[in-house]
Amino acid sequence: MSSEIATAVPPEQRTDTAVQIDGVRKSFSGTVALEPVWLKIRRGEFLTLLGPSGCGKTTLLNLIAGFLDADKGELFIDRSLVTQVPPHKREIGIVFQNYALFPHMSVAQNVAYGLRTRRVSKAETEARVRETLALVKLEDFADRRPRQLSGGQQQRVALARALVIRPRVLLLDEPFSALDRNLRTAMQVELKEIQSCLGLTTVFVTHDQSEALSMSDRIAVMSRGRIRQIGSPGEIYDRPQNRFVSTFVGDANLFDATLLETSGDAASIDVAGTRVWLRTYQDEMPEPGAVTLFVRPEKCRLTRAGQAGTLPATVALSVYQGSHAELHLDCSAARDGRVMLRVPASEALPVGTAVGIALPDAGAALYAMEGETE
Ligand SMILES: Nc1ncnc2c1ncn2[C@@H]1O[C@H](COP(=O)(O)OP(=O)(O)OP(=O)(O)O)[C@@H](O)[C@H]1O
Ligand SMILES: [Mg+2]
Repeated sequence: MSSEIATAVPPEQRTDTAVQIDGVRKSFSGTVALEPVWLKIRRGEFLTLLGPSGCGKTTLLNLIAGFLDADKGELFIDRSLVTQVPPHKREIGIVFQNYALFPHMSVAQNVAYGLRTRRVSKAETEARVRETLALVKLEDFADRRPRQLSGGQQQRVALARALVIRPRVLLLDEPFSALDRNLRTAMQVELKEIQSCLGLTTVFVTHDQSEALSMSDRIAVMSRGRIRQIGSPGEIYDRPQNRFVSTFVGDANLFDATLLETSGDAASIDVAGTRVWLRTYQDEMPEPGAVTLFVRPEKCRLTRAGQAGTLPATVALSVYQGSHAELHLDCSAARDGRVMLRVPASEALPVGTAVGIALPDAGAALYAMEGETE
């Protein structure tokens, strides 16, 4: 495997584009599955498409692979236009959720398949199959049939089959969703290690936010055929730019609020009669008027009941989580009447306790009310 590209330059600092998607759109019999998308995937980065079922993740992946033709728009891989190039000529490795191995072939034959169709010599094929099986830790399984392997092992074969052709881009569509939790975590670590060691440009599809947060250099959060935000896991988690992203990734507390005035990134708001100034991080401040205030649980602070400037609330439920407890509070100022906070397990409060919720000075966002139906 060539690993010269390697990891000397951290992915977030690379500017070289491996895949460029320019206004690519796809509809199926009149229904739009993917609105026009513009996206530059950097060389060597691990980019995740994250979003709920039906948002267009697989459609976008299949357009990159060439299994689907775009209605309009253009696609470049390594700067060459590939919109009209068939899948097998795009030099792309693909792993699906269902392993899609050939049942009548051995592991080695499965892995060798892409080299046979590319007319690679027998000696080189053998060497590359051996090398790739070692990479996925299946050296000793070369002669087995897929049905003699566990789910995790079958998925490693699928990964080896995609890697052996030395793809320009690796595409993975929910590759671990059929595996149980422990195996899934182990496979995530292994894939990430292989990917960063090879410096391989990777597009990974999942609807699992924790998988996306833990594996990605960047995440593109999608809903209804659109990319709603793209950024590093930290940016997506700490600075969601719209309500959809704030609630789809991580836990969100949302309050109905009125934006009174702004000064730079600071905003004066009224939440159920409590007035506070807070600094927001968002790119665009909404117009004064009715807004949604977004605050992560860890940014809210618990105070004693009745403290000035805090929101009155009552403990409704305390959920023990080992290292901490989740306190679910009834709070009439909250959008759905509930606020969630985390406290050290030893500080959990009994149900019925009256408390105050102090909003943070910074690290919150205000979202406009319109377009919130997603
Ligand atoms: N071949 C097809 N014919 C008609 N409609 C399709 C086809 N493929 C996808 N769609 C529709 O396009 C939309 C996007 O589908 P897509 O498979 O890309 O979603 P997804 O994000 O991968 O969802 P999931 O997480 O469930 O796999 C959906 O509404 C889906 O029903
Ligand atoms: Mg899908």
